[in-house]
Amino acid sequence: MAIGTALTRLLGITHPIILAPMGGVAGGKLAASVSQAGGLGIIGGGYGNAKAGYGGKDFMEEQFRAAGNAPVGVGYITWSLTQFPELFDQAMERAPKAFFLSFGDETLFASRIKAACVPLICQIQDLDGAKRALDAGADIIVAQGTEAGGHGKSGRTTLTLTPAVADIAGKVPVVAAGGLSDGRGLAAALMLGASGILVGTRFWATPEALGSDNAKQLLTKARSDDTLRTRVFDIIRDLDWPEGYTGRAIANDFSRKWHGNERALGQNLKDEAEAYWTAARAGDTSKAVVFAGEGLDLIHDIKPAGEIVREIATDAEQLLRTQAGVAVS
Ligand SMILES: Cc1cc2nc3c(=O)[nH]c(=O)nc-3n(C[C@H](O)[C@H](O)[C@H](O)COP(=O)(O)O)c2cc1C
Repeated sequence: MAIGTALTRLLGITHPIILAPMGGVAGGKLAASVSQAGGLGIIGGGYGNAKAGYGGKDFMEEQFRAAGNAPVGVGYITWSLTQFPELFDQAMERAPKAFFLSFGDETLFASRIKAACVPLICQIQDLDGAKRALDAGADIIVAQGTEAGGHGKSGRTTLTLTPAVADIAGKVPVVAAGGLSDGRGLAAALMLGASGILVGTRFWATPEALGSDNAKQLLTKARSDDTLRTRVFDIIRDLDWPEGYTGRAIANDFSRKWHGNERALGQNLKDEAEAYWTAARAGDTSKAVVFAGEGLDLIHDIKPAGEIVREIATDAEQLLRTQAGVAVS
């Protein structure tokens, strides 16, 4: 048995679970594992360039190769991708299972993606973003609440944003994102009108994910209360995020020192950046960013991605079977 939804039918997948296109984390191996287990894996191309410590044409070539023949999608940070047209072409040549765009104006790419009959997935953070993505022709809308790990906005929670987006999306499937790490999250999202979930942080704590072992270990020990939305990791990495976006990460010595002191960080950028990148290369999580969402409280171990997909699906199915009518009398 499996939970069939508008999302599983549109994508031809078994379980309504999508791997978030986490830049520098969701490589070809992780994406392939999620797809092979019945979800949809998306390779995270991030910014496209190598500024954040990964990226570029060769990085993506390597990740596509690591995915082998598994049907995987590709995702980019929209505002950054506009500077790297060759990466868009490279991804389209691979005939991805879906093209995922987040953060910025998707209309710039939508017509070319749709002309190639590749499903367009757009991740948004508020209703205006949802309307823009629907107008652009999105085939799937991801409603990202502020609980999410990585970049997003501080305004809306997954719990309230998901049904509001479902109300305006008509037949377009809505996927909930942010803080969803287990079967309870999937079952709840379906009750909110979503057709599936997008999972990031939970899939980082897997052997297949890219990123340092220190970061993965930290994910199993840190709590949701330890996370914080901040701009300091963008400032230090010289990433020019548009106004309104912050990244949710596990607080560490670096963010405790500079969050709230962004101007001073800007004035000390040269020295601080050198120390930051040295620490990042060494996997030192007291300085280097570890993006993570509020689902952290539910993550206690590192285990294969396929196991996570199957567990989320089975637990959600069980909950929907046994709990859905429990309080009705
Ligand atoms: C380590 C990490 C890196 C991320 N990088 C990206 C990215 O490059 N592009 C993107 O669209 N979203 C990125 N995200 C956000 C995800 O798309 C998604 O919204 C989020 O992971 C969902 O919340 P969760 O982490 O609580 O599951 C990232 C999230 C994490 C945790």
